[in-house]
Amino acid sequence: MAILVTGGLGYIGSHTVVELIENGYKVIIVDNYINSNSNILDQLFKITGVNPLFYKIDVTQKDKLEKVFVEQKIDEVIHFAGLKSIGESVEDPLRYYYNNVVSTMVISSLCIKYKVKKVVFSSSATVYGNQESPLKEETSLKKTTNPYGETKVMSERILTDVSYAHPEFSITLLRYFNPIGAHKSGLIGEKIKSSTNNLVPYISKVAKKEKSKVEIFGKDYNTIDGTGVRDYIHVVDLAKGHVKAVQSFKLGITTYNLGTGKGTSVLELIGAFEKVNNVSIPYEFVQRRLGDIEVSYADSSKAERELGWKTELSIKDMVKDAWNFEKKRRTY
Ligand code: WQD
Repeated sequence: MAILVTGGLGYIGSHTVVELIENGYKVIIVDNYINSNSNILDQLFKITGVNPLFYKIDVTQKDKLEKVFVEQKIDEVIHFAGLKSIGESVEDPLRYYYNNVVSTMVISSLCIKYKVKKVVFSSSATVYGNQESPLKEETSLKKTTNPYGETKVMSERILTDVSYAHPEFSITLLRYFNPIGAHKSGLIGEKIKSSTNNLVPYISKVAKKEKSKVEIFGKDYNTIDGTGVRDYIHVVDLAKGHVKAVQSFKLGITTYNLGTGKGTSVLELIGAFEKVNNVSIPYEFVQRRLGDIEVSYADSSKAERELGWKTELSIKDMVKDAWNFEKKRRTY
């Protein structure tokens, strides 16, 4: 079984490649290095002992990507490739719409042309916008709070209509909550970019004294301690969810939430990071971040029921592994 993984050198993509290889799959990676680099391939070899086939291609370039479908026998596609910074998407919406939506259209058209009838798509809990948690897959999608979220809604819509037009396809939409942490080896993890404004990379930077303190966006939310609540999931648990999705084959289009079903506040996460890693994380409260929602956590019972998937790693594992990666991270 050869699985084409677009964005396979990215944060979630690389962790999924490890799990796929360790489950005996042949993996073909397509990546344009926008959120990664060739060093990740070396790390993947160190972890798995396998050099996956790799093509440096921008997935919006159909003619280039088609080469892979001609040269390789592809059985399934996991489509990760996409830009994912909310803040960046607000500043540069057209770049996000073009990259994230056109790439989904290109993948869809090539899968139809080459009869690759199994597609797993990397979606996000952002599609739920500001709605009551726990969030269920059948929750209707309202307007999201940013262009990044809209590109995920549009991509889900495109894949849904492809599924209606091609009932012989099996399309799975995986809505991630907040992936954090890193592979236990510390060789792969969440690369921190200047455009990164996710919480845990910031905490790691403060722990490394590369930043003086964490700015906590708001402390007047209606939550346990006034700070935002999210469903943080270990990236390895998330990667294992993709293996389960690859192994399941349901005709039509199916959506799964991949989260722990538990909410954790910003202050609780900082506290866990300090306690587990025996470091001090100074912080200060600042005003809310535009577009942030108060509380978001999953009802992930459908994935447990239908995929036989359940998270196994705890918040302690997540913050331990995040810090382990950060300490080992070379600035490559
Ligand atoms: C988490 C919490 C912030 C930074 C986004 C996308 C989601 C996924 C994950 C791609 C919130 C607070 C954060 C900081 C803070 N990305 N925070 N200070 O916004 O929940 O989710 O990233 O798939 O799709 O929507 O993640 O890590 O930015 O924020 O106080 O410096 O931490 O307010 O409550 P978010 P986040």
